[in-house]
Amino acid sequence: MKVTQNNSEKIFWDPIRIPSGAPITMSGSQGKSLPKLMVWLILFVSATYVVYTLKLLSSSPSCDEDIFLSRHNSIPLQKNDTASITSSKISPLQLGEENEEKTGLKHMVFGIAASAKLWQKRKEYIKLWWKPERKMRGIVWLDSHVKTYRNESGSLPQLRISGNTSRFSYKNKQGHRSAIRISRIVSETLRLGMENIRWFVMGDDDTVFVTDNLVRILNKYDHNQYYYIGSSSESHLQNIYFSYGMAYGGGGFAISYPLAKALEKMQDRCIQRYPGLYGSDDRMQACMAELGVPLTKELGFHQYDVYGNLFGLLAAHPVTPLVSLHHLDVVEPIFPNVTRVQALQHLKIPISLDSAGLMQQSICYDKMNGWTVSVSWGFAVQIFRGVLSPREMEMPSRTFLNWYKRGDYKAYAFNTRPVMRNPCQKPFVFYMSKARMNYGTNITVSEYTRHIVPHPKCGWNMANPAEVDKVEVLKKPDPLLWNRSPRRNCCRVLESKKKSMVIDVGECREGEISEVLTTKT
Ligand SMILES: *[C@@H]1O[C@H](CO)[C@@H](O)[C@H](O)[C@H]1NC(C)=O
Ligand SMILES: *[C@@H]1O[C@H](CO)[C@@H](O)[C@H](O)[C@H]1NC(C)=O
Ligand SMILES: *[C@@H]1O[C@H](CO)[C@@H](O)[C@H](O)[C@H]1NC(C)=O
Ligand SMILES: *[C@@H]1O[C@H](CO)[C@@H](O)[C@H](O)[C@H]1NC(C)=O
Ligand SMILES: *[C@@H]1O[C@H](CO)[C@@H](O)[C@H](O)[C@H]1NC(C)=O
Repeated sequence: MKVTQNNSEKIFWDPIRIPSGAPITMSGSQGKSLPKLMVWLILFVSATYVVYTLKLLSSSPSCDEDIFLSRHNSIPLQKNDTASITSSKISPLQLGEENEEKTGLKHMVFGIAASAKLWQKRKEYIKLWWKPERKMRGIVWLDSHVKTYRNESGSLPQLRISGNTSRFSYKNKQGHRSAIRISRIVSETLRLGMENIRWFVMGDDDTVFVTDNLVRILNKYDHNQYYYIGSSSESHLQNIYFSYGMAYGGGGFAISYPLAKALEKMQDRCIQRYPGLYGSDDRMQACMAELGVPLTKELGFHQYDVYGNLFGLLAAHPVTPLVSLHHLDVVEPIFPNVTRVQALQHLKIPISLDSAGLMQQSICYDKMNGWTVSVSWGFAVQIFRGVLSPREMEMPSRTFLNWYKRGDYKAYAFNTRPVMRNPCQKPFVFYMSKARMNYGTNITVSEYTRHIVPHPKCGWNMANPAEVDKVEVLKKPDPLLWNRSPRRNCCRVLESKKKSMVIDVGECREGEISEVLTTKT
């Protein structure tokens, strides 16, 4: 095993991965000692890299929402002496950490990057997750004035116009100088001098947060230290072009109070040093690099630099709480036959019942019928003919296209699998239709209805999952799920009556694993 693994590392040299910075040093100092074949390989790889980079530059990169009106009708920002304000009056040295209040929503302030041009449409995404001012604090930073409606004031954060950035130099030919305005949101929000803030959370106007899960994630970190928390893009090439160490603002990121304070002191000088950068996120990361603070990756923040259907990604969510969804204008609605906003509205039902368990996958087997069952709680259930292993099922299926609109499997920063390897194994998908709490038992009951689409002919001599119309999933709410070490939930097929299936989902029992005991000898 070991020997073949060593070999395979050389043979399956990923032509896209290698060139990130490599071509210069390799063709220079090491070139002569390399065998001929290697040199050709490097040339090929470099050429591929150049072609890809050009493509990346010519097609508009990820920030479609960053196209703003060029005139900034800015109002002067009220300056405040932020130096005197501290995030928490009591430092952990004076008071044991166990005595300090747990981080809640009230300790965060959201900074939403928005543009006047898209505001009337994008505000609907904010309304989906925003809670009134008593519970949440946040500011939408706009480039110019927008029409506001009195009846909306409770369902949206306050709106402000960003400060004038015309004094900053911007020299990127592909991007837009609104990037400077957006990268300064954290600093501008800090200067408002709000009290008792532990975290600054950045998001776009088309980012949807699951705020309970955001709290769960930020609670793991000490807000008195320097933290820059977020995630990369799904697109391997985007991550090469920008950085694997950059938080993508569309997926959202969080900056601890002391770090925001340190940033505010130097950001305007820092921004001037990088006029050639493309966007706001790379400007932010450049300043983080100057501060020496690396990205702390949390995989629940989702940039979603993909096209098509998010199904594969959502149905195999990593074992971590789902914190955000982005690019919802770009992808198809997450539930079929409804609008994008309606689909997200629908997701609020499972969020209210058991936010920690949202989208969490569990994998089990219907032994009677010989099927594999995958539950993505609160979203969808899939039934496959035959046995698919958990290591296969936990890979996202490529129901989506990459950021360059291809179905390429090499374009992602993680493993993916084809939707089916055999026509018989096209999944039968059931989407969540309703969900409720059974107050007699305190168990959630969610119902999933089959999405009727054509299936290829299958000659396998086994039960056809098309006979099932409805799947019912029983799950006890588990708000403390993420206080334990990460582990997938277990599921059990309780009964498989004709036309319906009942599944129990929950913490795995002692010795319980996802396996099918084979009876063959
Ligand atoms: C921004 O500042 C520049 C000069 O610093 C000024 O010419 C311009 O009018 C200002 N823009 C707005 C919208 O106030
Ligand atoms: C708010 O008022 C506007 C017009 O005054 C109306 O078009 C809109 O539907 C109202 N929105 C809500 C949420 O009631
Ligand atoms: C500035 O901070 C002081 C407290 O330090 C506060 O009273 C005042 O309202 C703040 N001003 C603004 C504009 O936020
Ligand atoms: C799609 O929605 C329409 C209108 O809401 C409804 O009449 C139709 O039956 C739905 N189709 C499916 C396949 O659910
Ligand atoms: C359900 O939860 C409520 C409130 O937490 C509690 O009072 C009740 O005893 C629970 N019922 C069962 C059957 O566990």
